[in-house]
Amino acid sequence: MSHRLFEGKAHASIYQKYRFTPPDEVKNYILQYLNKRKEEPHVLAVDLGCGTGQNSRLMAPYFQEVVGIDISECQLEEARAVPGFPNVTYRKGVAEVLPFPDGSVDLLTAASAAHWFDQSRFLVEASRVLKPRGCMALLGFCDSNTRLHYQNCGERLTHIYEEVKLALLPHTSNQVAVSEGKLEEIYSAIPFPDKERIESIRVSSPISVRNLVGFIETWSMFQASKKKDPQTAEDLLLKTQKRFLDEMGVTSPDTEIEHELEYFCVLASKPQ
Ligand SMILES: C[S@@+](CC[C@H](N)C(=O)[O-])C[C@H]1O[C@@H](n2cnc3c(N)ncnc32)[C@H](O)[C@@H]1O
Repeated sequence: MSHRLFEGKAHASIYQKYRFTPPDEVKNYILQYLNKRKEEPHVLAVDLGCGTGQNSRLMAPYFQEVVGIDISECQLEEARAVPGFPNVTYRKGVAEVLPFPDGSVDLLTAASAAHWFDQSRFLVEASRVLKPRGCMALLGFCDSNTRLHYQNCGERLTHIYEEVKLALLPHTSNQVAVSEGKLEEIYSAIPFPDKERIESIRVSSPISVRNLVGFIETWSMFQASKKKDPQTAEDLLLKTQKRFLDEMGVTSPDTEIEHELEYFCVLASKPQ
């Protein structure tokens, strides 16, 4: 199954290194949405498909307890190795069968993960575990509209990035297309009347060329291509880094560029 792509130790370790923590702009949408519907204290947040825990840790200051759930033990091992978050724990499990009683969860999140779930089973389970007026937030980014900026060569860098995606396209999956579609179908299927889908939250942040190439390495379609032909995949990364640096006229992969990413967020609240 395609979600097995995330289970290897090596994949988990690059996830920890190169995946982005969701930006404050998205976090603020989620917390404002929740705060309008539910009074504090917020007791329990559950982060589904938590991977190495970036989003779980982001939620830690706002909840008494955060539980990250993932199907991959290797991802969870990396998440558990991050110190300093005593109210965050991680459990192996699936989004479709959650180890929580009915009506016990204030917020359910899934960051770049809901497209891997069995949609209808997940939605039944989400409805069961959420408290009345509890919320779900399914967030992610749409890589089709990514823009890179560096002096006057941003367009050419963006073009190189597009070419890498094109080269990996034969290894993509239906799930990635669901995410690129900003979870439209899951949104329509959410059975709660109170729901909204924010389609575009553009966020710009600096990233080194090294880390951008590392981010490409985390893509499921890159990992699928590497499984088939490790050497070609490795060559693609090296070649891409060189193309970026040549275009920029620099030699250090630590040189930073601006990375403009389009986030989306599906929000919904369970009726009283
Ligand atoms: C693209 S990664 C996102 C990880 C992390 N949330 C982030 O933002 O970087 C998707 C994660 O979902 C997990 N996953 C896939 N299907 C799952 C399921 N049915 N239940 C729980 N986790 C699942 C994978 O193991 C993987 O760690």
